[in-house]
Amino acid sequence: MGEQAHAERDWAAFQYEIYLNGMTGAVPRMPADLTRLEELAAHRLGPGPVGYVAGSAGSGRTERANRSALDRWQIVPRMLRDVRRRDLSADVLGSRLPAPLALAPIGVQSIMHPDAEPAAARAAAAHGVPFVLSSASSTPMEEVAAACGDGVRWFQLYWPKDREVTLSFLRRARAAGYSALFVTLDTWLLSWRPRDLDQAYLPFLRGVGTANYFTDPAFQAGLAKPVHEDLDAAVLHFVQMFTDPGKTWDDLAFLREHWEGPIVLKGVLHPDDARRAADAGMDGVVVSNHGGRQVNGAIGAADALPGVVDAAGDRLAVLFDSGVRTGDDVFKALALGARAVLLGRPYVYGLGLDGQAGVEHVIRALLAEFDLTLALSGYTAPGELTRDALVRADR
Ligand code: FNR
Repeated sequence: MGEQAHAERDWAAFQYEIYLNGMTGAVPRMPADLTRLEELAAHRLGPGPVGYVAGSAGSGRTERANRSALDRWQIVPRMLRDVRRRDLSADVLGSRLPAPLALAPIGVQSIMHPDAEPAAARAAAAHGVPFVLSSASSTPMEEVAAACGDGVRWFQLYWPKDREVTLSFLRRARAAGYSALFVTLDTWLLSWRPRDLDQAYLPFLRGVGTANYFTDPAFQAGLAKPVHEDLDAAVLHFVQMFTDPGKTWDDLAFLREHWEGPIVLKGVLHPDDARRAADAGMDGVVVSNHGGRQVNGAIGAADALPGVVDAAGDRLAVLFDSGVRTGDDVFKALALGARAVLLGRPYVYGLGLDGQAGVEHVIRALLAEFDLTLALSGYTAPGELTRDALVRADR
């Protein structure tokens, strides 16, 4: 589907499709209220996978802070402003998108559904939504790229300790058509995650979520035997190189030198870090606390967003994730200055519940609700949203 067709999508029409299907007695397999997905997934999927996806760092305080930070903002709808024609399209990192939304990088999707990342990527591409592929995917990046077809795809880098593996990942990602690089800064170490610890559940140690590494020539060069002959040695090699807590701002020059497209730093929460990102020649940041999965007690992501937006000015594209569940959350993030939002856990629950169709439902429901919220609040395009559209509930 061409870009023009995407731009003209009538997202809100999804509700009439559902009502019309209902004339033949059909009701959707998936809920319209996306906040119900976690509970449904918990009933249907195994405790290990559900704990891994739903779980957070520590007591879950920051995951809750993500929600309360968004909930503290309230939309003040405006009336009588002709909202018949709406255009949700947005320019993000060199691509014209039909809506200001991408799917967040989420690793090891095979634990939720056997069709894993390719199913989620096909769902994203079907609706013109970029798919951000995790370094820790359970499917090699080339296979996921094939599933995307001509859909926009971005690659998330867990920056390995090993320089050759890093370079090889960048080469492979570029060759497979990933047009932007998302470098995750908040996961140099795995945080204290009680739900996983209580079940002693970490898929990587079984060689799940390691597909990009195990298929990589530079990674394989460091092994005495092929991966299939000595899985334990391959896993150990992976664990030793997976990340590098010694990295500093100066190291970004290396990535800038070896990646021609946009580079986005994921996990920025402090305005000064946004300034440093711009000074280092980066193109964007994602305001994110990894869904509350890394620093328990960290600031709710939406509370950090306005400060980063102000610091970024027009030097960086500011994207947002952590806590986005519904169309009004998308509205609020954009009104606070985000160029686009990344959707995380909800689409993975959709994948777990109904494969590709489940992810498509989640994308369409979220964007239909966003489109309706936009219209009913008196706006016709994301670019019209400013902080004036919101008030603080606790002011
Ligand atoms: C993640 N996230 C993540 N981020 C990243 O850069 N690389 C990754 O491999 C993963 N893997 C991952 C797995 C799971 C199960 C979750 C839930 C999250 C973080 C993700 O990109 C995003 O920042 C969060 O999901 C946002 O929080 P919410 O909105 O999903 O709560």
